[in-house]
Amino acid sequence: MLDVQFLLLIALSSAAPVKRNACTFLYPKATFSGDFTSLVAAGSLRSEIPITVINTNVSTVSQDVLTTIVQSYEDGDDVFTADYLETIFISSSAPGATLDPSATSYLESLNISHVFVDARISMARYNTLPVSTVSSPDIDNIPSGPYLALIDGAKVSLASVFLLYPDTYRDFLFGAYDSNDGDSTHNSVGVFHPKMWDPPMAGWRVAIKDLFDIKGLQTSGGSQAWAYITPIANETAPSIQRILDLGGVLRYWIFHETSSGCERHLWPAPLPRSYELGESPSSGWCHDTAGVFSRDPYKWIAFSKAWYEPTLFQPPNITGLSPLEVPDTLAFPQTIIYPTDYLPLNNSAAEVILQNFITNLTTIFNMTVKTLNLSETVQSINATEEAPFINSLIYLTSVPLGVINTWSAWDAIGSVLTSTWAALFDGRFPPIDPARCPGWKSFNTTRYSPSAYANALVAKNAAVEWWETSFQPTTSASCSENIFLYDIGTGGFPSYRELGLNGHPNTSFLAVKPLGAEITGANICPVYGCADFTVPIGQVPYRSHVAFHEEMVPLTVNMVVRRGCDFMLLNMIEKLADHGVLKAVETGKTAF
Ligand SMILES: *[C@@H]1O[C@H](CO)[C@@H](O)[C@H](O)[C@H]1NC(C)=O
Ligand SMILES: *[C@@H]1O[C@H](CO)[C@@H](O)[C@H](O)[C@H]1NC(C)=O
Ligand SMILES: *[C@@H]1O[C@H](CO)[C@@H](O)[C@H](O)[C@H]1NC(C)=O
Ligand SMILES: *[C@@H]1O[C@H](CO)[C@@H](O)[C@H](O)[C@H]1NC(C)=O
Ligand SMILES: *[C@@H]1O[C@H](CO)[C@@H](O)[C@H](O)[C@H]1NC(C)=O
Ligand SMILES: *[C@@H]1O[C@H](CO)[C@@H](O)[C@H](O)[C@H]1NC(C)=O
Ligand SMILES: *[C@@H]1O[C@H](CO)[C@@H](O)[C@H](O)[C@H]1NC(C)=O
Ligand SMILES: *[C@@H]1O[C@H](CO)[C@@H](O)[C@H](O)[C@H]1NC(C)=O
Ligand SMILES: *[C@@H]1O[C@H](CO)[C@@H](O)[C@H](O)[C@H]1NC(C)=O
Ligand SMILES: *[C@@H]1O[C@H](CO)[C@@H](O)[C@H](O)[C@H]1NC(C)=O
Ligand SMILES: *[C@@H]1O[C@H](CO)[C@@H](O)[C@H](O)[C@H]1NC(C)=O
Repeated sequence: MLDVQFLLLIALSSAAPVKRNACTFLYPKATFSGDFTSLVAAGSLRSEIPITVINTNVSTVSQDVLTTIVQSYEDGDDVFTADYLETIFISSSAPGATLDPSATSYLESLNISHVFVDARISMARYNTLPVSTVSSPDIDNIPSGPYLALIDGAKVSLASVFLLYPDTYRDFLFGAYDSNDGDSTHNSVGVFHPKMWDPPMAGWRVAIKDLFDIKGLQTSGGSQAWAYITPIANETAPSIQRILDLGGVLRYWIFHETSSGCERHLWPAPLPRSYELGESPSSGWCHDTAGVFSRDPYKWIAFSKAWYEPTLFQPPNITGLSPLEVPDTLAFPQTIIYPTDYLPLNNSAAEVILQNFITNLTTIFNMTVKTLNLSETVQSINATEEAPFINSLIYLTSVPLGVINTWSAWDAIGSVLTSTWAALFDGRFPPIDPARCPGWKSFNTTRYSPSAYANALVAKNAAVEWWETSFQPTTSASCSENIFLYDIGTGGFPSYRELGLNGHPNTSFLAVKPLGAEITGANICPVYGCADFTVPIGQVPYRSHVAFHEEMVPLTVNMVVRRGCDFMLLNMIEKLADHGVLKAVETGKTAF
């Protein structure tokens, strides 16, 4: 019997990744030891060899058991290929497990180079199978799936394998992977992590916007100047640590993009963002804008519910609002608000899809549709002495919201960046995005100051109070009496990355302010603190000015509910997915 011991390896950040083919990289993950020197010397075992780890709990390991497991890897893990069956590690947690004759002859038929078998398993007779038995108290804990075995004398290292997709749109700054140091430090390289099979959310791949610190990586916020003056993160942001704690695997580091919509769907895309479900949660969850995108409604819901936990809620002394409570309730809204200043969609073919969606909502949830003009509704509020601005969406957006956004960005980033850059470069102004340049060049400390910020929180609270009392109240039957629909997108028309192409008829931009509306739809929830989720509901054809061919543009709708009704809305979306009204979207040229 071989003396085998498992331990976690500390991946050396200087160690060059092994590249096995065009798209696979490998990193050390776990090791076991034993004397394989003679096998390697005799040429019966290569020193670098793909391996598949199979963990089961059945007592009779038969051909059926093995083929079912292998098939589940083939179906469920895009990293796995039959090449990893060159060697196999088999273990079973069932007492007295056996590998029966059908299993041994199956393994022989696969021409496997070597089989490492858990010493607790007794094996049926076999002829030519090269077998080593291994034992270890930790044998049950090796995550199943594909690895690269690196055989070095008496030690076998199991290296994680990653599959790298080409980033056709150059959406991502760089890939990142867990260094396996047991301390959540990440290294940057263009790799993915293999899917792990054990805990429910383990191995879920998560791309992170380049605004959140991850220990070991450079945060840039989309700014090379900020990256220049900011050290590599030495701590992971709490909201990201929560994802790691839940077993999520950080995969990509998203570039914080400033471009508007574009023809992403001309090429198969690894992550076509325009098609995804996305959310801007209630004001006061962590940082207001921390949201999640996913192609699959169920994964999105599971992730969001696990992620949005009370310890990450911002307290009232930060938000200026009443404490955030997020009940997991089925108290659905009874009314759909169809705002005439934001709808219908300009593309009449897209409006048909929206109307079908609304019909589905009314049928499934027994809701009634009410049309109203939000701009007019707000204008008609009787202003009070304490809040004379309460009926002006333009004021609420430009003053309180403007101050909250501008002051917090300046306080955390702008003041540090401009002063540090000036000190480093003889008084020079840093190279920054044109959107921030004018405001930061000569920052107005009268308009934007800690006291202006405090006043802005009071004004925002007055607006939120109105919304929650008069517009989207909680009732005995509903978390949010109504659900408000609008389009944050392009009205069902394409929006091109190349600005000039949007001069054509039937093109648009993202988040435009419709004629007659006082503010953009995208600004409603930043003013009123509501939860605003974007869901894909279909697609419509258009004639592309780039490909000169008919293409499909995905269509989304925004669903808005009162602050704190996030989980109720997720439950609603789950029911819509159960009824087939919402579906996971595909990658590639088209969403559906
Ligand atoms: C064996 O594993 C299967 C699949 O993971 C699981 O459903 C089952 O409960 C396990 N049985 C035992 C006895 O642990
Ligand atoms: C195993 O090897 C034999 C002889 O080289 C070959 O005929 C057979 O196709 C191989 N089987 C597999 C599954 O590769
Ligand atoms: C990270 O670095 C900052 C600034 O250098 C320091 O104040 C902080 O204590 C460090 N945190 C850890 C966990 O090392
Ligand atoms: C907010 O209140 C908490 C206690 O609830 C306190 O720990 C924290 O320092 C306060 N933050 C600010 C910014 O006042
Ligand atoms: C623009 O779209 C509308 C449908 O919303 C259609 O009636 C019209 O013909 C289109 N115009 C052009 C120039 O494609
Ligand atoms: C949704 O609406 C479409 C079009 O009206 C209809 O065909 C479909 O059956 C509806 N689905 C549900 C679940 O009501
Ligand atoms: C649907 O809602 C109406 C009130 O809008 C109510 O009278 C009716 O009983 C409800 N139907 C069902 C099946 O719940
Ligand atoms: C909505 O109300 C605003 C403000 O009163 C008005 O300017 C606009 O024309 C209205 N839009 C519609 C579609 O009624
Ligand atoms: C505003 O006040 C007027 C006069 O008191 C009243 O008629 C109207 O209903 C009030 N409007 C709202 C929205 O409360
Ligand atoms: C700065 O803001 C104050 C208050 O809003 C305004 O009166 C002043 O004109 C602004 N100064 C500049 C230089 O824009
Ligand atoms: C829809 O058309 C109107 C009128 O041309 C325009 O004001 C509005 O911006 C368009 N909406 C979108 C989303 O393109």
